[in-house]
Amino acid sequence: MKVWTIANQKGGVGKTTTVASLAGVLTQRGKRVLMIDTDPHASLGYYLGIDPEEVPGSLFDVFLAHQRLTPELVLAHIVPTQIDGLDLLPATMALATLDRALGQQEGMGLVLRNLLALVADKYDVAIIDCPPVLGVLMV
Ligand SMILES: Nc1ncnc2c1ncn2[C@@H]1O[C@H](COP(=O)(O)OP(=O)(O)OP(=O)(O)O)[C@@H](O)[C@H]1O
Ligand SMILES: [Mg+2]
Repeated sequence: MKVWTIANQKGGVGKTTTVASLAGVLTQRGKRVLMIDTDPHASLGYYLGIDPEEVPGSLFDVFLAHQRLTPELVLAHIVPTQIDGLDLLPATMALATLDRALGQQEGMGLVLRNLLALVADKYDVAIIDCPPVLGVLMV
């Protein structure tokens, strides 16, 4: 599985648009694509018609469970989109509290890497959208 991260600390420069466009093109080419939204504003979900208030869980819950991650736990938080082969690990507003809630805990910088490793055989490409903030989420 290839992993791409679209990051820039400046806001409104086209990060989320790039994630959705790349994901769309790759899916059209037959790739299985996972998008991961690390932005508490959850614009990527809105972009795809997924309301962050209505998802069963989010990336935040995966961070909370970071010491006991399993493939099943990660997959339980991934939602399908209307497009076949294109899935989303959604964000929620709660992610905005991550720095304060968990930022000091050991191993927080490895949570994304660990969760990606657990679903690496399910997807060809993972694309990560970032918030325009140089915090624990972007790092
Ligand atoms: N290539 C482009 N040409 C014109 N407008 C664009 C282009 N790419 C994105 N936009 C528009 O620019 C605005 C910001 O885009 P987007 O939300 O992708 O930025 P972002 O970097 O993810 O923002 P944020 O940092 O707030 O998450 C949107 O209204 C989007 O439609
Ligand atoms: Mg964005």
